[in-house]
Amino acid sequence: MSVDRGTSSLESRPPEGFARGWYLALYADELPPGSVRSLEYLGRKLVAFRDVAGRPAILDAHCPHLGAHLGVGGRVEGGQLRCPFHGWAFSADGTCRDIPYAKRIPAGARVRSYPVVERNGALFFWFDSAEDAPTFDVPTLSEWGNPDWEADWHHVVWTVRTNPLDILENGIDFPHSMPVHGFDAPRGVFEFDGPLYRWGADTGKTIELLDDRRERFSFRVETWGLGVSHVHYDGLFSVVFQIGQTPIDAASTRIAFSILTRASDRRDPEIGPALERYVADNVRTFEQDFPIWENKVYRERPLLCDGDGPIQAFRRWAAQFYPA
Ligand code: FES
Ligand SMILES: [Fe+2]
Repeated sequence: MSVDRGTSSLESRPPEGFARGWYLALYADELPPGSVRSLEYLGRKLVAFRDVAGRPAILDAHCPHLGAHLGVGGRVEGGQLRCPFHGWAFSADGTCRDIPYAKRIPAGARVRSYPVVERNGALFFWFDSAEDAPTFDVPTLSEWGNPDWEADWHHVVWTVRTNPLDILENGIDFPHSMPVHGFDAPRGVFEFDGPLYRWGADTGKTIELLDDRRERFSFRVETWGLGVSHVHYDGLFSVVFQIGQTPIDAASTRIAFSILTRASDRRDPEIGPALERYVADNVRTFEQDFPIWENKVYRERPLLCDGDGPIQAFRRWAAQFYPA
């Protein structure tokens, strides 16, 4: 499939197709038991529903019968989603289980169902253009549901004209940090390990944050495929970010940025305000990249120099997730 991304250069596009992996679809509380939600991701129309027992499912949205959108007027009945048009009912695996006016259910009466996991307060679905089963998991964060930490995430959501590859490459692109963000990023240690790309810095020294404070800083980033990142920050206070990068289509991506902080840090009269500023700095830092991402082209063969980050190692790792 060829997609017009608004430029004429062949070099402007990242690899064709969508990367295999887990993608954040919804926050868990956006899909209460018995509810139905329409979604648009990866260039397709999807429907999410949660049965009365709490089990979530994500299916292709259009009914195999006469094509109604299951998310527009569809209803949850027990463990099934009933189409609004003629009442065919589908279970979480996408199989039609009931046609109210027929004696036999036709062979092949099913819609595509995507594997779904509920982790850390969010619903993630697995996408693979070959429709193969998941080959890795979304890890559970020990901070989520831990009484020492806040009970819920603080969410910031953006839709940006970019793609997960450019977003993640930004993290290891150190020299952009000073011109775009105004601070020198620590380089840290990298590891590309199967579906996991891990990097972190525990420099034991201070770095300057956006508001000119300097403080001890250590962080680690774990990225699972191109869709899910977890960032742990430990310093004067502790913060966890869960970031979902979910393509809406080839041209734009929904970035779901979630922040969880330690409850005692929030309550502390000195640490609390610094924490607030740090979180606001991080949100602002993220936003500072958008004008670059929305107007850059993807250089398949970039001209790199010795001070650049491990761009090619990152791209070799990322290539495993794209269709051959
Ligand atoms: S279109 Fe869904 S039941 Fe007919
Ligand atoms: Fe950046």
